[in-house]
Amino acid sequence: MKLCHRLFQSSVGAKMLMAITGLMLTGFVLVHMSGNLILYAGPEKFNAYAHGIKSLGALLWLMRGGLLATFVLHVYLAIKLTIENKAARPVPYAYEATIQATAASRFMIHTGLMMLVFVIYHLAHYTFKIVSPEISALAPGDAYAMVVTGFSSPAVSGFYILAMAALSAHLRHGVSSLFQSLGLYHGNLNPITEKLGPIVASIVFFGFSSIPLAVLMGAIK
Ligand code: HEM
Repeated sequence: MKLCHRLFQSSVGAKMLMAITGLMLTGFVLVHMSGNLILYAGPEKFNAYAHGIKSLGALLWLMRGGLLATFVLHVYLAIKLTIENKAARPVPYAYEATIQATAASRFMIHTGLMMLVFVIYHLAHYTFKIVSPEISALAPGDAYAMVVTGFSSPAVSGFYILAMAALSAHLRHGVSSLFQSLGLYHGNLNPITEKLGPIVASIVFFGFSSIPLAVLMGAIK
């Protein structure tokens, strides 16, 4: 209990927790993307996969609870650290050019909050099915038809692709910097961890975005 309290209070501890929760969320994103790519194998395979997940029963609820707790903790710490950093330097830098940071690192809180908005929309869209009447009218269990119907709208697909760009920018910096927060950023690890962020970011962007694009182009129907 005391250790937990100390982790939250110290900014190094908070950064470590950010890194651990960030790593777990990245793991979820990669697994979710791989699962979504089964769409290319056709409706039977994708619906069987979606059905397999639903039949995990209590284990699924345990995983959902863990995912939600991880996400809430990550967002809470991000807001807390941003507020503390602002309070430590109330006057912004006079010259942006003097800040040795990439655009991806300076916009972490913005791309992160975009993800929060996206996840709320995404759950309303596909999990709670309250965004579109076409989706709520579909037979339960037809996850394939749900994704195809959802992405048949260019506006919805455009929004998803924009959100994937924000997620990609977030991971580009986040994945590389989490090793530093965990104290694993040693001399010869640098070249690997520096490249890992951009590599994961590109895989996630192209993997996810290919789906709305494939639906719009009629390759998935
Ligand atoms: C092209 C992009 C994506 C597609 C096609 C997609 C598809 C889906 C589908 C079909 C579901 C299941 C809905 C259900 O039957 O209950 C789902 C759930 C979910 N997705 Fe995505 N997704 C995409 C991107 C993302 C991204 C980028 C994230 C996170 C950053 C995300 C987070 C989630 C979460 C948290 C759930 C709820 C899981 C659960 O109900 O246990 N998705 N998604």
